[in-house]
Amino acid sequence: MRADHQAVLLRRRVFSPGFFSVTFRAPTLAREIAPGQFVMLEVAGRLRPYLRRAYSVADAVPDAGEAEFLVRRIGPGTAALEDLAEGSEAALLGPLGNGFSLAGLPPRARVAVVAGGIGAAPFPLLFRALTAAEIPADLYLGGRNAAELVFRSRFAEIVPGETFLSTDDGSLGEKGFVTDAFARRADGGRGPFYARVFACGPMPMFAALARVVQRLDCPSEFSTEAAMGCGFGACLGCVIPATEKPFVISCMEGPILPPGKIAWEKI
Ligand SMILES: Cc1cc2nc3c(=O)[nH]c(=O)nc-3n(C[C@H](O)[C@H](O)[C@H](O)COP(=O)(O)OP(=O)(O)OC[C@H]3O[C@@H](n4cnc5c(N)ncnc54)[C@H](O)[C@@H]3O)c2cc1C
Ligand code: FES
Repeated sequence: MRADHQAVLLRRRVFSPGFFSVTFRAPTLAREIAPGQFVMLEVAGRLRPYLRRAYSVADAVPDAGEAEFLVRRIGPGTAALEDLAEGSEAALLGPLGNGFSLAGLPPRARVAVVAGGIGAAPFPLLFRALTAAEIPADLYLGGRNAAELVFRSRFAEIVPGETFLSTDDGSLGEKGFVTDAFARRADGGRGPFYARVFACGPMPMFAALARVVQRLDCPSEFSTEAAMGCGFGACLGCVIPATEKPFVISCMEGPILPPGKIAWEKI
């Protein structure tokens, strides 16, 4: 059930300057959160940012009462988290949004996770669920350069399948877009190699991936990252142009959406 959880920062792990994780004590949230869901986070006592910021819950350990977030510093909200002292409080409004679905996967299904940059954030918890369900899953992790792949170490032992790294400039892994790395392996010639694709990343990555999964007729769930003001349907700041109606309210109807519901040409 949605609530405003008063959470205490237990620890921060710095992967490289500007890329870090924060782990909070938030027992009820850790119990209730599902992979792909998010919170609207406010750091106590800060004037800026004025509005809360959205963060996917990267991982949750119910027994320890802990919830972790992977963060890339880009502005005042993420900087406030980077500066937050251990033992300090933040308010976590959630769980919000719909989450990824593992329902209906056929027996012996293999799935793919495609992540671009900070789009890796929601996936440790999904891999935890996939491992528990004994579903093999490959990770395609891409970025502009090696520096953008620093979160790869967070995935080192939790991917129940293979990991494929790619960078636009070739500084780590395959040279080129992560969507091309995915397309090369996903196209088995006799129908899609993967039973489902889970993706999170920037809009250009989504637009390219949407074309690939449509061509392969591969069911997919994209975790969209529209700018969010409230997180629960009140401000309409997060709307995305849609195919079946003028727009979808990303925080309420998503953030996980099938690519066919998004009008990519209008974004
Ligand atoms: C459902 C959801 C889950 C999210 N999960 C995470 C997460 O787990 N970790 C994380 O680090 N971030 C996550 N984000 C993104 C994060 O909420 C935003 O980037 C937020 O704006 C950061 O706040 P800020 O104050 O640091 O930067 P802002 O001041 O809000 O933004 C700084 C600059 O970056 C631009 N910007 C903001 N968001 C994006 C974007 N998505 N892509 C490109 N440019 C952008 C702004 O236009 C501005 O120019 C998520 C967003 C959503 C909607
Ligand atoms: S963020 Fe306010 S309606 Fe979605």
